[in-house]
Amino acid sequence: MQVLTTQWDVHAAVRDWRRQADRIGFVPTMGNLHAGHMRLVQVAKQHCDKVVVSIYVNPMQFGAGEDFTRYPRTLEEDQAKLAPLNVDVVFVPNDQSMYPHGHQQTTYVDVPGLSIGLEGAQRPGHFRGVATVVNKLFNIVQPDVAVFGEKDFQQLLVIRRMVRDLDMPIEIIGEPTVRETDGLAMSSRNQYLSRQERQQAGGLYETLQYVRDRLQRNGVDFTDLEQDAVMRLEKQGFVPDYVAIRQSDTLEEPKSRTDPLVILAAVRLGKTRLLDNLRV
Ligand code: PAJ
Repeated sequence: MQVLTTQWDVHAAVRDWRRQADRIGFVPTMGNLHAGHMRLVQVAKQHCDKVVVSIYVNPMQFGAGEDFTRYPRTLEEDQAKLAPLNVDVVFVPNDQSMYPHGHQQTTYVDVPGLSIGLEGAQRPGHFRGVATVVNKLFNIVQPDVAVFGEKDFQQLLVIRRMVRDLDMPIEIIGEPTVRETDGLAMSSRNQYLSRQERQQAGGLYETLQYVRDRLQRNGVDFTDLEQDAVMRLEKQGFVPDYVAIRQSDTLEEPKSRTDPLVILAAVRLGKTRLLDNLRV
């Protein structure tokens, strides 16, 4: 497993692989790897001859006052986890090489529509930062396949849309969320939780399941159900940013009961922000 820090080194590795007609898989991450990330790497391995994992805490996708500085950086442990999975290259760029003119001055990618609501409304500029860095990473790695988690459902749709709109010849695979035994979606941010908050945190997934069960009954009003879910979460000590029932392909409000739906939620628990979703 090679650990490369510049785009030029990655270009050189990729050039050799392309010459051999190898299929290249890519998993972008911000590190502090857990079983959810590992799953994505395994899937990339199944589909490809060579796999690149990037580890980069992208400053451009964090807003003022968010957790950019305290985001856990655990490069050594991450490398130790990736080596047994036969990852070929770990790409660990630095800010200077990614944003030579600073991330506020960089050329950027905006995905309209999908980037505006939900997380986009709570975190202005977030999806511009995500789309821009993923586009840059795609240009560096030139993968045939890239694997993302459904955990960040809106992010996955934003990436799919960018790839379609900009004609990037990359297959995007979305993988289901890997969860702890109590249902809490695995996340690098879970370690911010105190012991007591960790015990409460499973209530988020329980509430999503409650909403899904209620949706399967006839005659429920979506807005009433969203408000009911917000109240349930508040009773359990969460501070909800939103609970939203949306069409799973566009994130628009559902037009008919037969639309494929997704329930998306973001809550705060103490200082930690938790994000989860459930498809119906
Ligand atoms: P990060 O939060 O590190 O997540 C990297 C990838 O792992 C994303 O595709 C995310 O959806 C997926 N993932 C996270 N938790 C998961 C879980 N419990 N089960 C399955 N997949 C999970 O998402 C980012 O980084 C960044 O925004 C990035 C795309 C790297 C751009 O900076």
